[in-house]
Amino acid sequence: MPGTPRQIEIAPSILPADFSRLGEELQLLEKASADRIHWDVMDGTFVPNLTVGPDVVAACRAAVSLPFEAHLMVDDPDLLAPRYVAAGCELVTIHVESTRHLDRTLHGVIEAGAKAAVTLNPATPLESVDNVLHLVDMVLIMSVNPGFGGQKYIAAQEAKVRRLRRWILERELDVDIEIDGGISVRTISDATAAGANVFVAGSAVFSDPEGPEHAITALRTLAHEAQ
Ligand code: DX5
Ligand code: ZN
Repeated sequence: MPGTPRQIEIAPSILPADFSRLGEELQLLEKASADRIHWDVMDGTFVPNLTVGPDVVAACRAAVSLPFEAHLMVDDPDLLAPRYVAAGCELVTIHVESTRHLDRTLHGVIEAGAKAAVTLNPATPLESVDNVLHLVDMVLIMSVNPGFGGQKYIAAQEAKVRRLRRWILERELDVDIEIDGGISVRTISDATAAGANVFVAGSAVFSDPEGPEHAITALRTLAHEAQ
C-alpha cells in the first residue's frame, strides 16, 4: 500500500557462501530467518568477477522455499534474464548500465514471468529510472561499486534513496527500495531512515561470529527501530 511503512526484508547475498555446499548454506540462511536469497550473478565483463550460472541457481531451487532474486551484473541481460527466471528466480534486477533498451529488457523479465527491478550503480543518476519506475516492483540502489563483497559503504547513496522514496510516494507507486553493498549494523539504520526497506548483506551475515541468525536478527531489529 503506497505511503504505509514498507515491510523490512533482509536478503543475504550468496557471494561469501561456501560454494562447495551451496544448498546447505541456503538452508542455514532459511533457518536464520532470511527473507529472500540475493544471487549475485557476475559475468566477468560487466564486473571484473565471475560467479554462478542459471544451472547453479536451478540446482539450489529445491533446497529452500525462500524467494530467489537475481542481481544481474552481466553485459547481456536480454539473453540471460529469462534463464534465471526459468531457474527459479521470482525477481530479476537489471542494471541500467547493462542495456541500451531498458524498457524492452524489463518487459522481457515480466514476460518471462518474474517481477522486474532495476539497479543503479553509484555514479548513475536517479533520472535514468524516471521513465520505467511504473514497470518495476523494486529499485536496487548500489552502495558499493559492483563486483565484490566486503567493500566500504558509500553513504552518499542515501540521498539517492531519499529522492527515490519521494518519487514513489508522489506517484503513489508500490515499489520497494533495496540497498546493496556495505550493509551492516553500522550502516543499516541510516539506510532505513533514508527510505530503503530491503537490505542485501553478504559479509555482515557470513562473518558474524555468532552466526547468520544473530546477524540477520540484529539487522532487522535496527531497521525496524529506524523506520
Ligand atoms: C556486489 C554485490 C553485493 C555484495 C554485497 O557487487 O552486488 O550484493 O555481494 O556484499 P557486502 O554485503 O559484503 O557488501
Ligand atoms: Zn548484489
